[in-house]
Amino acid sequence: MRLKQFKNYEELSDFAATDIADAIKNKPSLVLCLASGDTPKLTVDLLVKKIKEEKINYSKITFIGLDEWVGLPPTNTGSCHYFFQNKLIGPLQLKPSQYFLFDALAADLQNDCKKMDQFINDKNGIDIMLVGIGMNGHIGFNEPGTSFNSLSHVIELDEITRSVGQKYFNEQVELGKGITIGFKHLLNTKKVFLMANGSKKAELIKKTVEGPVTESFPASIMQKHNNGFVIVDEEACMVKSFH
Ligand code: GLP
Repeated sequence: MRLKQFKNYEELSDFAATDIADAIKNKPSLVLCLASGDTPKLTVDLLVKKIKEEKINYSKITFIGLDEWVGLPPTNTGSCHYFFQNKLIGPLQLKPSQYFLFDALAADLQNDCKKMDQFINDKNGIDIMLVGIGMNGHIGFNEPGTSFNSLSHVIELDEITRSVGQKYFNEQVELGKGITIGFKHLLNTKKVFLMANGSKKAELIKKTVEGPVTESFPASIMQKHNNGFVIVDEEACMVKSFH
């Protein structure tokens, strides 16, 4: 794992978008997995802009959504589905065969997890994953205590996740469970970026890169990935030894 620091959110996002755009140029059939949330917003916008401006051929890429709030319809503006539809799938007019998102309304969520695992296997794994970090150190909805060996699964959300998650919604919502890609997929992904910006993430990033590797602090899994990059802006970084 390596830590890379950027001056601000714009430079951080531009780095990630450029890296992904270049990866598509080098491998047109790239399999990309992204988190939603506030952190990757600008990266996704810049990626779409670059793809369009540079006329990058994206007709063979595959996109995978990292996680979803169970029970929310895709029309809910706070859902991950809505985020991806509006910012990536819609603007690029991706074909249904080019992406897979969890179905938060599925009657059989376990089966939806199996479908996701199968989809990833059929694509021969994920090439690039860009994730954020939750305020309890989670990645996706891999809450503290999740096995580093997990596949896609449904999980009872942590109290911190439930309350912080309200920021995505216009009105108070009941957030109970999440459905998420597991850590086995993250460890098998060829290149992983964990992105964070702002001072509220600084302590979490310090723990991620300097703390013990433990399932009780999920983001510490990044230390186990030999092509993992923790990418941050100045505000999110207090780890002097890496500067
Ligand atoms: C959410 C999502 C994660 C996201 C994280 C950080 O709960 N499940 O996928 O990366 O928390 O979100 P944000 O980027 O808004 O801080």
